[in-house]
Amino acid sequence: MIFYFSGTGNSYAAAKTLAAGLGEPLTNIAEAISQNAFAYTLKPGEKLGFVFPVYAWAPPRAVTDFIKKLELYFPQDPYTFAVCTCGGSAGETMSVLESALENNGLSLDSGFSLLMPDNYVAGFDVEPKKVQQEKLLHAKEILQLILRAIKLERKKFFRVKRGKAAKFLTSVVNPGFCHFATRTKPFYVTKGCIGCGLCESVCTDNCISMAGKRPVWTKSRCNMCLACLNHCPTASIQYGKKTEKRGRYLHPSYEKNSTKEDLK
Ligand SMILES: Cc1cc2nc3c(=O)[nH]c(=O)nc-3n(C[C@H](O)[C@H](O)[C@H](O)COP(=O)(O)O)c2cc1C
Ligand code: SF4
Ligand code: SF4
Repeated sequence: MIFYFSGTGNSYAAAKTLAAGLGEPLTNIAEAISQNAFAYTLKPGEKLGFVFPVYAWAPPRAVTDFIKKLELYFPQDPYTFAVCTCGGSAGETMSVLESALENNGLSLDSGFSLLMPDNYVAGFDVEPKKVQQEKLLHAKEILQLILRAIKLERKKFFRVKRGKAAKFLTSVVNPGFCHFATRTKPFYVTKGCIGCGLCESVCTDNCISMAGKRPVWTKSRCNMCLACLNHCPTASIQYGKKTEKRGRYLHPSYEKNSTKEDLK
């Protein structure tokens, strides 16, 4: 069973490749949370995987909150792995994930980071298309190596790009980020909005409601996955003043789709 969380498709694409290569089913963490679905049973020999993006050098809170509530039943200890996708570096993301699993009686056998295009448009502009394409091509190759290591059930096997000042970024900067940079107040919609409702359907936190033909943010904080901002077909969702001039990013597997149903 592979549990995944994804805002703009990078982690979803990686999880899908791993699920196909391993013959494991996929479960969307955001949907599981919204359906209060926390109990799962693994079959004999079934592996347990987690695939998710790095948010401010840590796993998304939705992922660690999900693991806290996860009730997992298994006939024998499963081989457990995690893959975090990131734009640059993961800091201590994997240690945070490992602690969350250990607090729920699970251990982590292997962990990997996978460099993919950066989707954090609220902070920076998107990378040039050429850089995105190079990253995606490289990620495809690395993913095959990750798949191989998982198939071989390598233990105590960690290949994570932690980057500089990893401990500081994860333990000091991340809590500040979660407090200040996950506020929904800076979201607003510009006049190009066509009222399609896609932002509401792709939100990973059930935080957007359509009031007539305009989206409104119904919680004071959200997952900050940026699915809404990056999916909007008219680039009408902004976060603060700078995003009007910035590009948008979606993984190619999401670009072809336009509704949440297409994304499954
Ligand atoms: C809120 C937020 C914070 C991020 N923080 C980091 C980070 O600390 N390090 C990094 O390398 N990438 C960071 N990124 C980039 C994403 O981890 C990266 O683009 C990821 O592959 C997106 O996955 P997704 O398409 O599955 O949502 C951040 C993105 C967002 C939205
Ligand atoms: S996705 Fe964009 S165009 Fe569609 S309702 Fe939301 S803001 Fe408006
Ligand atoms: S409001 Fe936008 S950024 Fe926040 S969780 Fe929903 S889709 Fe993600």
